Amino acid sequence: MDARGYTAAAMNPAPPAGCCIGVFDSGVGGLSVLPALRAALPDARLLYVADSGHAPYGERTEAYIVERSQHIAGFLRAQGAQLLVVACNTATAAAVEALRQAHGDIPVVGIEPGLKPAVALTRHGRVGVMATSGTLSSRKFQRLLLAQPPQVSFHLQACTGLALAIERGDLRSAELQAVVQRHCAPLREAGCDVVVLGCTHYPFAAPLIREALPGVMLVDTAEAVARQTARLAARLPPSTLDLPPLQLWSSGDPAQLSAFTLRWLEWDVEAAALP
Ligand code: DGL
Repeated sequence: MDARGYTAAAMNPAPPAGCCIGVFDSGVGGLSVLPALRAALPDARLLYVADSGHAPYGERTEAYIVERSQHIAGFLRAQGAQLLVVACNTATAAAVEALRQAHGDIPVVGIEPGLKPAVALTRHGRVGVMATSGTLSSRKFQRLLLAQPPQVSFHLQACTGLALAIERGDLRSAELQAVVQRHCAPLREAGCDVVVLGCTHYPFAAPLIREALPGVMLVDTAEAVARQTARLAARLPPSTLDLPPLQLWSSGDPAQLSAFTLRWLEWDVEAAALP
């Protein structure tokens, strides 16, 4: 379903209800996962929380991210979520286990950098990984890295400042261009032919990243997450609540979340403040 079709659905009488899925990120990054979720689950009710008032998570402590994630998960469940999608690599690395323990009665889907698809794509055996320092230093990521074939070398780039620059919303700003250049230069010099976008904010900077890394293939995992979500959602009953197709909340500026959703996804939905 394309973005314009969805805008129409958002304004017309609701189609028959599917299940209700709660999605969250440290901010607006998880919006990059919503089109794939919508395509995989056309009838689902989607609830999205941007924790922009507490972004970026990338340089926060694990305990802080766990606490925020539990708060948001509790909120999404109270709104009717029957399945949770952690649309944030950093929050997945820090909090997905704690979320699964606290919410063992519903499925919790996380997202992690696509090292395996990158290994399948690389011809030179040199893969770059752009992610937050929180993701790259996590035990979960280190385990994922150790599971890859030894003949492939991974160049890990902790992209400090990149999610924050995207969070400001101007995808051609001088600040964003400078941050992208700074973080892409080492990957270009290392000769990486595949680069993993290991943070859900980064697909919004993909045009700039492509300019900085000509000829390099970019990998993100939104579609893989949507496929896994659809597999698990197939076991859920339709929601009994009368919900619109998409609802948005932000702990930062809700008007900004609405504006970015309209500009980037062409979905016209009014966001509310996260309590
Ligand atoms: N979007 C997030 C991720 O996928 C994190 C960005 C941040 O808050 O630092 O890792």
